[in-house]
Amino acid sequence: MSEEIRGSQSRFPWTATVLTLFPEMFPGPLGGSLPGKALESGLWALETVDIRDFASNKHRNVDDAPFGGGPGMVMRPDVLASALDATATGGEDEALIYLSPRGAPLNQARVRELCAIRRLVLVCGRFEGLDERVIQARGLEEISVGDYILSGGEPAAVVLIDACVRLLPGVVGAPEGLVEESFETGLLEYPQYTRPNPWEGRDVPEVLLSGHHERVRQWRKEQAEEVTRERRPDLWRRHRRATQTNEE
Ligand SMILES: C[S@@+](CC[C@H](N)C(=O)[O-])C[C@H]1O[C@@H](n2cnc3c(N)ncnc32)[C@H](O)[C@@H]1O
Repeated sequence: MSEEIRGSQSRFPWTATVLTLFPEMFPGPLGGSLPGKALESGLWALETVDIRDFASNKHRNVDDAPFGGGPGMVMRPDVLASALDATATGGEDEALIYLSPRGAPLNQARVRELCAIRRLVLVCGRFEGLDERVIQARGLEEISVGDYILSGGEPAAVVLIDACVRLLPGVVGAPEGLVEESFETGLLEYPQYTRPNPWEGRDVPEVLLSGHHERVRQWRKEQAEEVTRERRPDLWRRHRRATQTNEE
């Protein structure tokens, strides 16, 4: 019923268990590049559970019409509960998550917390989503990947898993780079440049060629502040509040 997709060399690696009606969508993009290599090396593990295997009637129905009328179908609580009960251990090293547009927006701070939990059980909705009672009865944490509607929870699960995997020890070759990335410092990242220089008549900022580490650091800090102030006033206000509190 549950299928493990590679990644089992170490005994208890960080594990994502995905409950889905479309197990064939995994590993998908998680099988390539950085997460794919890490999966092959056993730095994390991926399991899929086909929700339809837990349908009890002869038509294997997983959904039904919404009470009160309206368009679409709703995923049945009994089927989901059976899938969850067969999958989750109830241990403290496990988080039960429902990818949902009504959930708390995912951010880098929550990603850091999630990659410290050994196993994530991720429920992917389809149709109009899950019956509310199973969300409450099994204490599912609802997480959203943004203020838009996807056709299913699978792409959202891929986003969440990818964000966690790159923070796991040994996955990124130069982990010091992770510290400077957008959101880690509360700011967006400064602009990046590489060869050739010039390119199409555009020069790389002089300071980056100076070899003067302190000037480069200061320039990057100023750029990060400027780009955050311009593009994300919400982040900028929070950053200002945090730095002012620290200075007091
Ligand atoms: C078509 S959506 C259901 C939308 C739901 N009727 C609503 O308006 O909130 C089907 C499934 O996609 C997933 N999904 C859609 N948008 C999402 C988002 N922004 N973040 C996380 N999951 C999402 C959820 O698992 C959801 O159950």
